Amino acid sequence: MTIRIDPSAAKGTVSPLLHGQFIEFLGECIDEGLWVGPDSPIPNTDGIRSAALEALKRLAPPLLRWPGGCYADTYHWQDGIGPRDQRPTTYNENFGTFELDHHGFGTDEYLRLCEALGAQPWMNVNMLSGSVREMRDWMEYCNRAEPTDLARLRSANGHSEPYGVRYWGLGNEPWCGGGNMTPSTYMDLYRLYASAMPSFTHSNDEPSMMYPIACGPDGNKPVERVEWTRQLFQELASFRQPPISAYDLHFYNWNIEHPEDTSTEFDQAGWTRVVEGCLELEDIIGEQWGLMQAGLAAMPHPEAAKDPRLESVDLVIGEWGNWHLDAFEVRPALRQQVTMRDAVTTALTLDILQRSCDKISMACNAQTINVLNSLILTEGDATILTPNYDVFMMYQGHRGARALGLDRQDAQTGVYTFASVKDGHVLVDLTNASMDQSVDQTLTLPVDARVEDFRCLTSDDPHRFNDKADPDAVRSRQVALDAPTGREFTVHLEPASVNTLTLSLV
Ligand code: AHR
Repeated sequence: MTIRIDPSAAKGTVSPLLHGQFIEFLGECIDEGLWVGPDSPIPNTDGIRSAALEALKRLAPPLLRWPGGCYADTYHWQDGIGPRDQRPTTYNENFGTFELDHHGFGTDEYLRLCEALGAQPWMNVNMLSGSVREMRDWMEYCNRAEPTDLARLRSANGHSEPYGVRYWGLGNEPWCGGGNMTPSTYMDLYRLYASAMPSFTHSNDEPSMMYPIACGPDGNKPVERVEWTRQLFQELASFRQPPISAYDLHFYNWNIEHPEDTSTEFDQAGWTRVVEGCLELEDIIGEQWGLMQAGLAAMPHPEAAKDPRLESVDLVIGEWGNWHLDAFEVRPALRQQVTMRDAVTTALTLDILQRSCDKISMACNAQTINVLNSLILTEGDATILTPNYDVFMMYQGHRGARALGLDRQDAQTGVYTFASVKDGHVLVDLTNASMDQSVDQTLTLPVDARVEDFRCLTSDDPHRFNDKADPDAVRSRQVALDAPTGREFTVHLEPASVNTLTLSLV
């Protein structure tokens, strides 16, 4: 069977924001991971681990969500501003972290990191132990241009220009640790908080830059997630102000029911279960999108016509990634290794997000460093790039490209695929999700093309991972192809491999 690629059959644009990342005060994601502090013997740039910073600069994540997650619901932003030696010490109990919290990495450190990376910030507001006033002050501190006290405080802390933070999450997982709320209780709180958000406009006609994000459902619970969305959008239909800019679904690919299966030890059944588990996201996106459209269609139109922000709600995924059983059992909390199994599911998930670019506006991998589906793992002074880092790097070319309408999988070879076109280049993802069988995959185009690059991420053993002893055990490499120009190409795909083929149209 052949994958037919038609560069003229584009079906939407892949928002760069689909390649977002998520960092939280959890385990060693920030403290000891990304943030080591300026006095650390570990080489750092103003407190940020230099090796991680350089790796993130190369990756250039377009979006970075912070400070949680669950942690956001206990975070008081004023603990993390001003001179570091005057910041309070609190205690972090988030998800088994159990560490002192010195607040070295706060709002200015985070927003300056976003600037250095060229990432859009997505900040999550404390709806559980914070207050409307606290939220409003945080927004004022970040975004006010006029010389108010909070804007002058920001200047005194080194940033005279407003940061211009647009994306604000209101609450986190309120159906669970974020308050154990019903959709109705959450919507009441959402309205309260969203109504109090400053607009940062200077006339009533100017649209606000602020983009409030409401909490979507637990993507892993089929019955509850339908009910949450159905009820929340019913509420929205009957009482529509203030608008919701986006609705945040969380989806983890749970692998916790098989004690024999850890992040590094698995058999064929464990491989297949985890690969198939990540694919569920595509159906969930379709389901949630459908429920949202049905809810919006039920809204009385005259009001929607008055305010375009009431007409649509974006669907976003604030957290996604593999979650293996051992993550629960370790310290630092939620740390797990990353093998080719995770790299394959990371590739397949990015393919799903990119293919769903007409439905999903933003998405964040959970999390960037030392937690769950990591791109970077640290061991003391060592900074290790996981195979997931390579996948994100290999997929960079899709950002801002136009998605091509391909089937998810070649029915005969089983190879998973996605392709996009930008500036006369087609980037094709080819993932061989078989644990032990290689495959020869043929691709055809209606026009001549030249192979620019063929890159493969694999390992002779799919259980292998990168660590301090062998930091480059699993690394992507360029593969030479024999017949680089034409309309038909056959590529050899190793077992358990993520591959990208870049073609330039001639
Ligand atoms: O990413 C780890 C945790 O998973 C987050 O804090 C929370 O939002 C989710 O349950």
